[in-house]
Amino acid sequence: MQTWNAQLYDGKHGFVSKYGEDLLSTLAAQPGETVLDVGCGTGHLAAKIAESGAVVVGIDSSAEMVDKARESYPALLFTQANIATFSQPETFDAVFSNATLHWVRDAAGAAQAISSSLKRGGRFVAEFGGAGNIAGIAKAVRESIKEATGESRPHGWYFPTVGEYATVLEAHGLEVRAAWLFDRPTPLEGADGMRNWISMFGGGLFAGSAAFTDDIKRRIIELAEARLFATHFRNGQWFADYRRIRVVAFR
Ligand code: BEZ
Repeated sequence: MQTWNAQLYDGKHGFVSKYGEDLLSTLAAQPGETVLDVGCGTGHLAAKIAESGAVVVGIDSSAEMVDKARESYPALLFTQANIATFSQPETFDAVFSNATLHWVRDAAGAAQAISSSLKRGGRFVAEFGGAGNIAGIAKAVRESIKEATGESRPHGWYFPTVGEYATVLEAHGLEVRAAWLFDRPTPLEGADGMRNWISMFGGGLFAGSAAFTDDIKRRIIELAEARLFATHFRNGQWFADYRRIRVVAFR
C-alpha cells in the first residue's frame, strides 16, 4: 500500500497540482456551484476551485494528506474517504479529480461513486495516468527488482486507454463528451529527481514483500536510476515519462 509523505509531496512534487491548474480551466467552476475534489491531496487545487466562488469538498484516502489540507486551508471541508467506496446523500454540480484515479484499481466502483455524487446534468472533469504512463520507469524498476531480489512483479496502477475508460464511465450512467490521451514528459526537480520520484511513488511496485528491506529498496532505486539515465536524463534534467488521460463526462 502507498503511504504518503505530505511534506515531500508538496516540496518535490508540487508539479502534480501545478499541472492540475490547467485542468481547472476545463472545470470552469462557477460561483455558487458545488464541487467534489476527488484525491484532493494537500488541498491546493481545492483552494483554487474555492477562489472561483464554488463550494468545495475535498476527499482523499490518505489521512496525512487530509490533515495537511485542513491545516493549510481551515476554511475548506476535507474528509478522508476512498472514492471506490464513497457514498453520501449530497450531490454536486461537478466532480473534479487530478492525478488520482490511476491509484484506484476498482475503476468501476469509483465510476459508480462519481456518477452517484453528481446531480443530473452535472459534469465530471478528470485527468490521471493513461495507457503507457511511466512505461519506461515501471520497466526499469521491474527489471531492477528482478535483478536485486529475483522477484517479478507487475505494477499496481490503473492506466486505461480512452476506449477502456469511456466504456467504464458509460456503464455507470455518464456520457463522455471528450477524452484525450497525450504525452506529458515531466521534469523532475534536482539531481535526485528520479530517485525521489521512485521513493515517493514506487509504493505500487515495492509494497508487500518481506524481501524488500530499506537496503534492498535503496539498491533497486540505484539500479533503476542507472537504467533510466540514457533515456530519462536530458540536458542535466530528469524527466518522468507521463502520459495523461483527460475526460469530460456528464451525468
Ligand atoms: C502519475 O501521476 O502518473 C503517477 C504518479 C505516481 C505513480 C504512478 C503514476
